[in-house]
Amino acid sequence: MNADEALKFIEQLLEEKGKKRLNDLQRLVFKGSWDGRSYKEIQQQYSHRCSYEHLIRNVGPELWNFLSDVLEDQVRKLDLQGAIERAWERQSSLKANGTTDAESLSQQSNETEMAAEPLVQEDFIPRRYLGNVPEVSALFGRNRELRQLEEISFGCSLILLYGAPGIGKTTLAAKLTHQISKQFDYVVWRSLEEPPPMQTLVAELTHFLSNGEETSTDLSRLLHYLQKHACLIVLDGLESVLRSGVHNGSYREGYEGYSDLLKQVGQISLMSRIVLTSAEKPRDVANMEGGQRVFALKLEGLGELGTQNLLVARGNECTETDVRVILHRYDGNPFILNSIATKIRDLFNGDIQTFLQQGTLIFDDIQALLERQFNRLSDLERAIVKCLVAHHEPLTIAEIRQFVTPPISNGEILEVLQSLLWRSLIEGSAARYSLQALMAEYIMNCQQDG
Ligand SMILES: Nc1ncnc2c1ncn2[C@@H]1O[C@H](COP(=O)(O)OP(=O)(O)OP(=O)(O)O)[C@@H](O)[C@H]1O
Ligand SMILES: [Mg+2]
Repeated sequence: MNADEALKFIEQLLEEKGKKRLNDLQRLVFKGSWDGRSYKEIQQQYSHRCSYEHLIRNVGPELWNFLSDVLEDQVRKLDLQGAIERAWERQSSLKANGTTDAESLSQQSNETEMAAEPLVQEDFIPRRYLGNVPEVSALFGRNRELRQLEEISFGCSLILLYGAPGIGKTTLAAKLTHQISKQFDYVVWRSLEEPPPMQTLVAELTHFLSNGEETSTDLSRLLHYLQKHACLIVLDGLESVLRSGVHNGSYREGYEGYSDLLKQVGQISLMSRIVLTSAEKPRDVANMEGGQRVFALKLEGLGELGTQNLLVARGNECTETDVRVILHRYDGNPFILNSIATKIRDLFNGDIQTFLQQGTLIFDDIQALLERQFNRLSDLERAIVKCLVAHHEPLTIAEIRQFVTPPISNGEILEVLQSLLWRSLIEGSAARYSLQALMAEYIMNCQQDG
């Protein structure tokens, strides 16, 4: 009996017994298992259908349990042929005796002890880690983003989490890694705070994924391992390989190789996921975004509930109105919220009302964060940002062209606005653009001081 005959036999039996038919995925697992393939091999062959994790944890065990029920025998992946052949022989002898299959199987039902297939698989490999995934103690208001990332992460090779400094990219990526790492054989957490050149990174990753057998700087070798194994690789802080002072999303000198890495990973089907965090969206990701393999999530500030929970967790009492005012002033940025929440507790005795009466306070750590963001802008970006501050209300492109000094061409305005959006510095709605509230405050303060 071959796999097709075995499947046909099972399907006839299911029909006779009035049971539901096998779905496509179950049929693939059945046939692959019959031919002695591991879950990994089955998944590799049909990787577009589902993840390895889903196959090994859900589809497989559910199929064997279902068949065990139907055949009233213990059906396991490793002994699938034996179970089917026993059922085949039983059915043949029934036919010879003129007994119906259903009657016979019910006679046997007390004789066979059912056992669910243990979760020990023939292709189990211990998970391997490189780098330390940061611990996440308290995370407020990110359930929606986590769900979104978990759901889409099955289909994408390249996932970018981008947003303003301090908005919580690293924290969210760490939380996601803790949640989904069990789906992967290799998990890498790599901070790019001091970024290596792309070839060095490739060699580092290839060495790890080949279990020390290879240290190649050749990108194609890394891609080979990313296709061969299920790997989760987080590169945290990609903005450090991007140039500052320009508005074209280009790379720093010596780091141009990262462009090839992103482009290649974003274009092929992998067993693996690369998760990037960045304060700025790189042009390469913007160009590939929307395709099947690349997903970019812009991280916004916390919502009302997240902000309230954070303030309360830091020992403050607050009304809904307090929360709204704070949210509006500080853009829901968790780094900033943490900073002000402890100041309100320590300096204002937890009294948010008194704190709010001081106007928007920008403490040193918040100042440093905004400075970091502002210092990366090109001259034209600074000109447009200042123009938006001066007019206190969202402006259209035509209005920006009318008011900005020095004068900027239409084409350049579009380039610059796109770059400011990639840096999460401005928001656009109904073709009008406005600056983040806190950055506006920071620029006004700077202008007053100097
Ligand atoms: N959802 C959240 N709830 C509570 N605290 C948070 C949350 N997200 C981030 N934080 C805290 O805010 C601070 C900044 O977070 P994080 O370092 O993740 O930001 P980031 O976007 O990676 O910043 P950077 O651009 O500087 O790398 C950290 O102290 C972190 O613990
Ligand atoms: Mg970070």
